[in-house]
Amino acid sequence: MEKTKVALVGMGTVGSGVAKLLLDYGDRTARHAGRTLWLEKVLVRNPERVRAVELPDGVLTSSLEEITENSEIKVVAQLIGGLEPARTIMLQLLESGKDVVTANKALLAEHGPELFDRARELGRSIAFEAAVGGGIPIITPLSQCLTANRIESIHAILNGTSNFILDQMDTRGSSYDSAVQRAQELGYAEADPTMDVDGSDAAQKLAILAHIGMGLKIHWSEIPCRGIDSLDPSDLQYARRLGYRVKLLATAQMVEDDLELHVAPTLVKMGTPLSEVHGAYNAIRVVGDAVGKVFFHGMGAGQMPTASAVVADLIDTAVGRAAITFRTLKLWSENTPRVTPRQYDQVPGRYYLRMRVLDEPGVMAKLTDVLGRQGVSIASIIQHEEETTATDTSPAKDTNSQAIVPIVIMTHETKEGALRKAVEEFDQLECVFGGCIRMPVRE
Ligand code: NAP
Ligand code: HSE
Repeated sequence: MEKTKVALVGMGTVGSGVAKLLLDYGDRTARHAGRTLWLEKVLVRNPERVRAVELPDGVLTSSLEEITENSEIKVVAQLIGGLEPARTIMLQLLESGKDVVTANKALLAEHGPELFDRARELGRSIAFEAAVGGGIPIITPLSQCLTANRIESIHAILNGTSNFILDQMDTRGSSYDSAVQRAQELGYAEADPTMDVDGSDAAQKLAILAHIGMGLKIHWSEIPCRGIDSLDPSDLQYARRLGYRVKLLATAQMVEDDLELHVAPTLVKMGTPLSEVHGAYNAIRVVGDAVGKVFFHGMGAGQMPTASAVVADLIDTAVGRAAITFRTLKLWSENTPRVTPRQYDQVPGRYYLRMRVLDEPGVMAKLTDVLGRQGVSIASIIQHEEETTATDTSPAKDTNSQAIVPIVIMTHETKEGALRKAVEEFDQLECVFGGCIRMPVRE
């Protein structure tokens, strides 16, 4: 059978899964590719490290030249994270004539225009199904299967680590720190999980989806973004009592010709498909004007799900399909219109507010006064009894032994800007402790 020689750059969580699929299930890939995908070289930083996957002799290397200078290697999966040296290595691979597959969304979101232009100039291709949604096919559906549509909206859970952490806190009462640690042990989190929990990873993936789906170019850092890192386990409990689950929701929505884009922890109505996305699963709900609603659901992080998407891209690249898609898509080209998202302050919605306040007369009046002046109408307000639960270790009393109690407010529809100003005012009040949490509500 014909052989296409491939190489991996990086054999950590994802690379090990890819090596396993290529070595142990070669018959499967051969059946779909009509050729053997032969694992010729694997580049790592530290070849002495003990690996979970045993490679044939001579495959492991720490020298990039063993890949770039081997003209028999046609396709390389670039599976190291971060921006550098990932960017430089990607350029070197393209310049040495390799087609590239990658799972690195940070790299594409930051340097996509440069990398895609260079690949086009050199007649090479870049495939990146694994960069968004882990094992979920979403790049191919958006760039091929749904192209007859005007994409009206994308609502998505795009970070497996955040979803896993929220789920562990909600259903198992885990602490935030222990849930982060578990996500790292399971290989879901980035080497530095900061961008998982602060919403940046989801914003990078949303910028890629909005670009492909809506044909508009935006830098991910321009997307208004809040993460799950400031939430307290009690927020998940209060949300549940109100009939919602908290999800880190990424939204891209056309409002006439404006594009509304944001990432925020959001109260999602229980029973809706997005509220039922658990663990490290991701989900993407796409609405197209012809197709209507389409829902994609699957593991958004983890070794084998991500490897599944990478190997599919290796096959597509080896047989030449990726090159056709890449040429016709013209991603991040000079001609793609840039878009400024709709002013975040103008985005409408209902909101959840939670703060800890002094339990004394007049406090509620101060809170409602702030909301009234910002034109925010209250739908419900609950002062919870002073409480300390297994997952809520914050002191119920301050140092002067004044009782502090949680207040949860649900608003009627208002604008993000009004809420932001109200929260800024709450944070200035002496009766409010530890900052006010705000989350939009999605029915
Ligand atoms: P990882 O476990 O940290 O593995 C990174 C690999 O890159 C390691 O094998 C490391 O070598 C190698 N490496 C790092 N710097 C290198 C250098 N300068 N030269 C050569 N090799 C180098 O990362 P991962 O979780 O597999 O993620 C890889 C990429 O996939 C990232 O962009 C990530 O965002 C993306 N991704 C990950 C997942 C997931 O669930 N983990 C899902 C989707 C996408 P050593 O082993 O010698 O240290
Ligand atoms: N760290 C990422 C996540 C990996 O948790 O979603 C998948 O891109």
